[in-house]
Amino acid sequence: MPRVTIDFSSFSEITDLPPADRELLAAATTGLAHSYAPYSNFRVAAAARLQDGTIVMGANIENAAYPMCICAEPNALAAAASVKPGMPVVSMAVTVKAPGRVLSAPASPCGSCRQILSEHESRFGHDLRLILRAETGPIYVFDRASDLLPFGFSGELL
Ligand code: THU
Repeated sequence: MPRVTIDFSSFSEITDLPPADRELLAAATTGLAHSYAPYSNFRVAAAARLQDGTIVMGANIENAAYPMCICAEPNALAAAASVKPGMPVVSMAVTVKAPGRVLSAPASPCGSCRQILSEHESRFGHDLRLILRAETGPIYVFDRASDLLPFGFSGELL
């Protein structure tokens, strides 16, 4: 029977990461302050590195009409498209914080975010490296975001 496997790296210490990933995670942690999450109390921030090294931020922005909540990851991609239109995001660090709790497991991008990140890769023909970490605990690194969405819907079918 065919099987799908996902390759990723797990690091236990931030100091085990390459400096560029460490810098991006630190930026994401700073970005948690920009989250607007009064309903879930679950803050998410994403720091995106563009191909020229520019780092932009996105955080989750919630809404009283719950389905209107916008995740941190697409907000970071929108920020990237705003400052450097036409330039790919080559890596993204995502971190989470829930006031009053210490989160120790990385939060994986939701299905919708995976779809958006995957299309960013196919649109630009460039891998988007993902670095995930909670406040403490392991750091997961995926060489390309689309690895998180096997059998995803693709524009090639249209
Ligand atoms: N959230 C993100 O920002 N990214 C994800 O990939 C998953 C969920 C946000 C949406 C909402 O504001 C909060 O986390 C709880 O679902």
